[in-house]
Amino acid sequence: MLPIRAQTARRLSMALPEPALPRRRLLGAGAAVVLTPALALAAVAGPGAPATPAQMQGPFYPLALPLDQDNDLTQVRGRTGRAKGVVTDIGGVVVDLRGQPVADVALEIWQVNGFGRYHHPDDDSDLPVDPNFQGFGRTVTARDGTYRFRTIRPLPYPGRAPHIHFALKGRGFGPFYTQMYLAGAPENATDFLLTRVRDPRERDLLIVALEGPTDGTSPMTGRFDIVLGHAMLQRER
Ligand SMILES: [Fe+2]
Repeated sequence: MLPIRAQTARRLSMALPEPALPRRRLLGAGAAVVLTPALALAAVAGPGAPATPAQMQGPFYPLALPLDQDNDLTQVRGRTGRAKGVVTDIGGVVVDLRGQPVADVALEIWQVNGFGRYHHPDDDSDLPVDPNFQGFGRTVTARDGTYRFRTIRPLPYPGRAPHIHFALKGRGFGPFYTQMYLAGAPENATDFLLTRVRDPRERDLLIVALEGPTDGTSPMTGRFDIVLGHAMLQRER
């Protein structure tokens, strides 16, 4: 029997409308992930290489978007505090099935705070809200397809491995939903969504190894490249 929150996730995940994604270009947040297009192509392209699997939107997409929606989730505009949790820079490149970078893709992320709670009224856990955590962020891929976010390392919650939700929308396609998981998390073996991804190559595309210290002396970093498959094919029709 799954805990209530996991049951809610299952029940609601198919029922929610897709959000509109206003396009808005954002400035960099000082994230430290170093990316080059050449490295990106080597990492994710190749004949027969799979696309990033779609994953459900889930029930915790914000009902009301925060006023501060930039790509640094660890600070909320107008507040002096920092989000609780291990600061983590996530960056990557968005490419199509041929490995070509895709520019001007709007990306949104949302996740639990440093206590393991979503800032969403349907999260029925007793865990605290963190007013210094933005909970949701946006950015747009650059000409070379790269993007970056500064957030905190996600925590597991009942029924789910640690993950970050992603929504992508570009010219004529999307929103495309997926989720990013953490390498080495023991909950990956039982996560009801990740375990649906049977192809190990597809699974690998969803799992990111974080590097760096966990003591907060500097951000951890992780690279999450996203290969657009069906979404891009729809665009080209
Ligand atoms: Fe989630």
